Amino acid sequence: MSNDRIDALRKAVDTNPDDVLLRLVLAESLTAAAEIEEALDQYVVLLDQHGLPDDQFVPVGELAAANGRLALLRNLLEAARQRGIVEGTGRLQQLVDGMISERSGVRIKVGPEAEYDPLTADTAKETTTFDQVGGMEEIKRIIHRMVILPLSRPELYEKYGRKSGGGVMLYGPPGCGKTLLARATAGECGLPFINVRIEDVMDPYLGVSERNLHAAFERARANGPCVLFLDELDALAFARHKHGGSESRRLVDVLLQELDAIGSDNEGLLVLAASNAPWDVDEAMLRPGRFDRVIFVPPPDEPARADILGVLTKDVPADDLDLKALAGQTPMFSGADLRALIERGVDKVIDEALSTGGEPPLAMRHLTDALTAVKPSTLDWLHRVRSYIEFANQSERYDDVAAYLKSRDVRRRLS
Ligand SMILES: Nc1ncnc2c1ncn2[C@@H]1O[C@H](COP(=O)(O)OP(=O)(O)O)[C@@H](O)[C@H]1O
Ligand SMILES: [Mg+2]
Repeated sequence: MSNDRIDALRKAVDTNPDDVLLRLVLAESLTAAAEIEEALDQYVVLLDQHGLPDDQFVPVGELAAANGRLALLRNLLEAARQRGIVEGTGRLQQLVDGMISERSGVRIKVGPEAEYDPLTADTAKETTTFDQVGGMEEIKRIIHRMVILPLSRPELYEKYGRKSGGGVMLYGPPGCGKTLLARATAGECGLPFINVRIEDVMDPYLGVSERNLHAAFERARANGPCVLFLDELDALAFARHKHGGSESRRLVDVLLQELDAIGSDNEGLLVLAASNAPWDVDEAMLRPGRFDRVIFVPPPDEPARADILGVLTKDVPADDLDLKALAGQTPMFSGADLRALIERGVDKVIDEALSTGGEPPLAMRHLTDALTAVKPSTLDWLHRVRSYIEFANQSERYDDVAAYLKSRDVRRRLS
């Protein structure tokens, strides 16, 4: 078909956007004229309008797969299932699987560019460092080897042919320092830290969440090298449970595309993520090259608690605090619980200062007093993870958690 005719069709579709037959003719003409990207964009709309004939699902799927359009492919598969197009679903599933397993790192166009960036990011170098994170000696070592070393000594990794790409996901009970650790990792690398809470990315309007997420990656790329932190990844899964599917599926796809793109073009983007509910995280997200390194961040043990208490009281005028004793009195407290404890203790000091007119230092009595009001918050999570592991243990992924739960001390606390 001549360009003039296609132009005429484009105009006709513009003025009659709901005429699905017309749009179908346009899409087919565009395909015939090798204007594939535009054709696929039309098919996206047609699919939304329920205007794609059953026998077109597979051919359009093939076209989408050949052109790296995973999101469209996924939507075709989902729509085919809903419409009960049986023969088609098998082939579409095959195409989806094929694309996911051999993603070559080609970034896929995800809708129009966001006109504005709803995610504010601080692009100054992060100043938090590992000294501000109490305990976690082992995890700090792992992160050093997995993240910091490859960044500071890339030649070592090149020499031994070891790939340094792929993201790290931290998981564990809330308040145990995942976000803090991610921030400090950026600080240790001397890089800006861009914190993206998945929940902040989510938007009820169709397509906006995807665009927000894409914008976050764009922003990170523009500020690279930097650490992009995707906090509370479980929000994705939560949305899936709540809305039952396609919405968060598309967001997961965008995330996968972005992650796959990083490995290939090496933009100095380091991606970390955190989740309180790793079992809710999509399997596809944990494949090689994505979040293929998963680290359990447990509640701090006694020495770690003493260390955290030290960090938390470093700048507080204090008198003879026996932090070791306090660590012994705070089993299963998270870092956040310990912080709450110190804050309550400080409140008591202030009360005292106000009533006596003096400036008393923080002392053990304030903290022992505060201890009656603060309870450990990690037990709920540990109970949940325990039943999860017992009843659904499908992989070795949670071996670290299982080992942790088996330790005598923890078993006693949980029973
Ligand atoms: N290991 C730690 N050292 C010092 N402070 C900690 C530690 N863990 C937690 N905290 C305190 O608790 C707060 C919440 O921790 P956060 O990193 O947000 O936990 P998570 O992301 O695992 O839910 C931190 O801002 C910090 O004040
Ligand atoms: Mg957090």
